[in-house]
Amino acid sequence: MAEQKATNVTWHDGEVSREDRFMILRQRGATVWFTGLSGSGKSTIAVALERALYANGKLSYRLDGDNVRLGINKNLGFSETDRTENIRRIGEVAKLFSDAGTISLSSFISPYRADRDEVRRLHEQAGLSFVEVFVDCSLAEAEKRDPKGLYKKARAGEIKNFTGIDDPYEAPRNAEIHLKTDEMTLQQEVDIVVKYLENHGVITTEQFTRATDLPQDNNSASL
Ligand code: ADX
Repeated sequence: MAEQKATNVTWHDGEVSREDRFMILRQRGATVWFTGLSGSGKSTIAVALERALYANGKLSYRLDGDNVRLGINKNLGFSETDRTENIRRIGEVAKLFSDAGTISLSSFISPYRADRDEVRRLHEQAGLSFVEVFVDCSLAEAEKRDPKGLYKKARAGEIKNFTGIDDPYEAPRNAEIHLKTDEMTLQQEVDIVVKYLENHGVITTEQFTRATDLPQDNNSASL
């Protein structure tokens, strides 16, 4: 757990509650945490899920390893300490998003079980839903896909500490959802996550406004 450095700081409550925010968004904030090897399909599923939720009037926001490493975490590399700090920061960011009412879709290799468990603890302590999704794909398949050509480079010794090659990946033992991406279709995977969110009260179908049902003359200036 990260050390509290600043002293003389106290939490300041607002006057609008989390429940108030959830009510105006007509959904409950939650964190969906995709973990798996590079190339396993985490980001692909998150993108498709974001679209499916959007089409049903549900607000989600993707936090993606590569994107986040170009911004808030640009000062972190791939050592064990840096990966832990990467996940700690994103865990806090995901928690803020879900407290705000958004369904945060976090796609990070997050190879260490203890780091993921810490993010889970953070959410549970705050009374927020944390859904761990194991994006399970064999190393052989991820390496065959090699969408960014990184496995090839790692095998050639051009990238050090590459997860699955010369760095560990600790698979989840009790993930809420287990997707086998070398056996399932993208649609099946998205449907499983959507069903889970429905069954656990994060989203409800009764309230769904299909994006296609929205008025055509959608003048946002009048909102
Ligand atoms: S994590 O281990 O700290 O969770 P994260 O998901 O943020 O990793 O970033 C992984 C992405 O960084 C990979 O999809 C890949 O594009 C890129 N990458 C670059 N170097 C490495 C490395 N040594 N190990 C894993 N991924 C790497």
